[in-house]
Formats: sequence, structure tokens, C-alpha cells
Amino acid sequence: MAKDYVVKDIELASFGRKELDIAETEMPGLMALREEYGESKPLKGARIVGSLHMTIQTAVLIETLVELGADVRWASCNIFSTQDHAAAAIAAGGTPVFAVKGQSLEEHWDYLDKSFMFPDGPNMILDDGGDATLYVLLGARMEAGEDVLAVPTSEEEEVIKAQIKKRMAETPGWFAKTKAAIKGVSEETTTGVHRLYDLHKNGQLPFPAINVNDSVTKSKFDNKYGCKESLVDGIRRATDTMLAGKVAVVCGYGDVGKGSAASLSGAGARVKVTEVDPICALQAAMDGYEVVTLEDVVQTADVFITTTGNKDVIRIEHMREMKDMAIVGNIGHFDNEIQVAALKNHKWTNIKDQVDMIEMPSGNRMILLSEGRLLNLGNATGHPSFVMSASFTNQVLAQIELWTKGDEYQPGVYILPKHLDEKVARLHLGRIGVKLTELKKEQADYIGVAVDGPFKPEHYRY
Ligand code: NAI
Repeated sequence: MAKDYVVKDIELASFGRKELDIAETEMPGLMALREEYGESKPLKGARIVGSLHMTIQTAVLIETLVELGADVRWASCNIFSTQDHAAAAIAAGGTPVFAVKGQSLEEHWDYLDKSFMFPDGPNMILDDGGDATLYVLLGARMEAGEDVLAVPTSEEEEVIKAQIKKRMAETPGWFAKTKAAIKGVSEETTTGVHRLYDLHKNGQLPFPAINVNDSVTKSKFDNKYGCKESLVDGIRRATDTMLAGKVAVVCGYGDVGKGSAASLSGAGARVKVTEVDPICALQAAMDGYEVVTLEDVVQTADVFITTTGNKDVIRIEHMREMKDMAIVGNIGHFDNEIQVAALKNHKWTNIKDQVDMIEMPSGNRMILLSEGRLLNLGNATGHPSFVMSASFTNQVLAQIELWTKGDEYQPGVYILPKHLDEKVARLHLGRIGVKLTELKKEQADYIGVAVDGPFKPEHYRY
């Protein structure tokens, strides 16, 4: 049988398997779901397309989905984030995966297309940033002669459309059929969730979606504590630069910005923050960071990190003013936070994979990480397993909910109920020796909650 995967080197599988074994010990939420649902197999019949960074942690997610009965095909949602040994281990285990660290954009969309190619077609999507959802919905519109969608499709638009046209030519009617077969999507990240709400607002979301990002045990942990560990890891692996004493600017003080500022501050950098939202600006100030505009510090800072999920945050005019050897990187989902395209006609010197030195007209040089793509996954290995276990436990619960009860949902964007959020947290306490205090019945009555939770009202913000 022809091989049904694209990985860098299948020989890396045994190394991947050893790291998977270690990761499992740090992913108690996923392992508990295997215990709880391994026999009943609630995902039997689900054919899940996954589009999410193909890392060791994701490999544990994939094997959990399979153990719960699903058929799975996988692509990475970023050209630089794949860990080739993780992909090899998954391919060697018999799950089709299409992901190579450093794949081209054309390959990226081709691999995503391949991850949809179940013999009987897919019926579920597990997305990170919305590319898999976009592929089906934009494709269906193009098939119907209407090639715009209510979400920005980035600078990659031409590549995406070329891939869609290829699929349309090979399998006429494929997009409409696939769109009709999808029962639901679970979405991992802030940027993908924005896309889903926009699609729904414009009447273009045909199936229910679960916003995994806004589970408390996702955004308040992965986005924050995850970035706290992985941002500096990425900068160090890329540059080996001394961070203590340096001035670092973090653009955006949402969940990712909070973790990023803490990461840099923990390394001894003097951190400054830029924000547009007065609430987040005040939070940054009261956390002890100077809140500035980029223009105030662009000539003096040493490190610049974007965390906004917004576009054109660091622009060409900023980069031209930076001091020699300033380090610039992004940890938000897409590369459009930094105007990398405007640097194309400058002199680039590649230092090593995902690290480039770019010469400005003034003669000053800038170190750009991962070509502006999310650097914690491009230059390092992303968040540690433990925090990803919380995120991915939410993902699996969302897939079970949509697969087993999807028919009860209208098209729209939903969040998992609070009791499940609390369950995800609970599953992670034992591993780090956390002892919970139990409410007494009278105490529970006094604050108006049940003894076993939920412990907070929906509007509580953590
Ligand atoms: P968020 O919405 O909590 O925070 C973004 C912040 O940026 C907001 O406070 C907003 O006011 C601010 N902002 C927007 N435009 C700005 C501008 N022009 N200048 C300064 N600040 C600006 O979003 P969250 O959850 O922090 O996510 C941010 C990005 O990171 C998203 O693209 C998300 O998908 C991505 N992400 C990346 C992860 C990684 O491992 N690399 C992990 C989780 C999320």
C-alpha cells in the first residue's frame, strides 16, 4: 500500500516515541480521558481532520482521540512548528500525518488538503487558527462561484485559492459535499475563534463550533503560563543573547502578552508594554511594567515581541528606526503582526533555520525570528506538556460533545460548560501535589454554590 503520510524522516519515530512516553507522564488530563473513555469509545465513527502544530504534545492528543475511537488525519497549522520526530512517531503508529518543519506555503496547503482525504470523507474538524475551517468554507464558496468569505484570508490568499482550484478540478463538488458532512469544529486559539464569530455573524458558519480557547483552563493557562515558559525559550535557542538588563517591549497585554512579559521579566529583562485597551494598559502598569507607545522606545529597546493577534503592529517605519542588532519576533498566531513583506527587498542573511539578519537602509541590522511566525513554536518547541494537557483535554471534551450531541446544537459558537472547565483543572491537581479544600454544606449555601461546584458564576473572570 502506498504510504499515507508526509514526514521528514520516518526513522525519527523511535526518538519521537521516547519523548511521547515522557510527555504522557506530564499530561494527566489526556491520560485520565483515556481511562474514562477508552472502553466506551465515544468518538467511534468520527473522522477528524486535525490542523494544529504537530508537536510531541499534539501527538499525545492524537493518540488520545484514536484511543477514544476516532479516525484521525493530521496537518500542522504552521510551516515552522512541526517537530519532525513527533510527526514520524504518529505516522509510524498508523495515523496519516502531513507535516514537515520548514515546509513551504504551497506544501502547507497541499498537506492540509491531504489531511481531509479520508476514503469516506471527514465529518469533524479540530482546528487551530481556523485554516481547516477556512479551506472548506472558502472552497465551497468558490465552487458556488463566490470567492469571498467574511474573514481575512491573509497574504497567503493566492496560495490557498490555487490549492482550492486544484481540488475543485480533481474532485468537482468536493467542497460542498465536505461542508455538508462536517458535524462540528473545535477551535484552539484566540485568532481562530475571532474568525468563527465573524463567520457566524455573517451567516457563513454552517455547523456548530466549540470555542476551546475561552475555556478558563485554556486561555488563562496555555496563553499565559505556556508563553511564560516558551517565549524566552524561543529567543534563547534562536539567539543565545543575554536577556538580563536588556530592554524588551511586549506589544499587547492580553493573555499571551501577560505570559510573555512575565517570561522576559523572569529572565531579568526590563519590560515595557504597549496596549490599545485601557483596562489591559492599567493591568500592565499595576503589574509593574512601564506602558509606552512603540514610537517612544523603538530606537532604544533591544527586543520587540508582538502578542496582539492584530496586524501591522510593528511596521517598516519602526524597524527602520531600531538600533543595530535589535531582536524582533512574534508570538501571536499569524505573521502579519510584523510587516515582514515590506522587508523582502532588504539584504537578508540567514544565520540558521528560523533566524535571519536583515540589513536596514541605515546599515543597522535586525534579527528576525521565524520570519515573523510564532517564535515559541518556530524557534523552540512550544509550550510544555503539562499546560498543553489542559488545553487538549478541553479539545477532546469538545470533540466528544460535538460528535455525540452535535445535532442538539444550532450553527454557532459555544463554550464548554463550567463544570467541564473545573473538571479539566481538577484532573491536573494531583500531578503537582495540589490539595483542595472542601466546602462545607453551610459554606456552600452561604456563597450560593453547590458543594461540588461550579464554584463561580459564568461572568466571573478569573
Ligand atoms: P487577547 O485578545 O487576550 O490579547 C491581545 C491584546 O493585544 C489585547 O489586550 C489587545 O487590546 C491588544 N492589542 C490589539 N492591537 C494592539 C496594538 N495595535 N498594539 C498594542 N496592543 C494591541 O489575545 P491572546 O489570547 O493574548 O492571543 C494573542 C495572539 O496569540 C492570538 O493571535 C492567539 O491566537 C495567539 N496565541 C499564541 C500562542 C502561542 O503559543 N504562540 C498561544 C495562545 C494564543
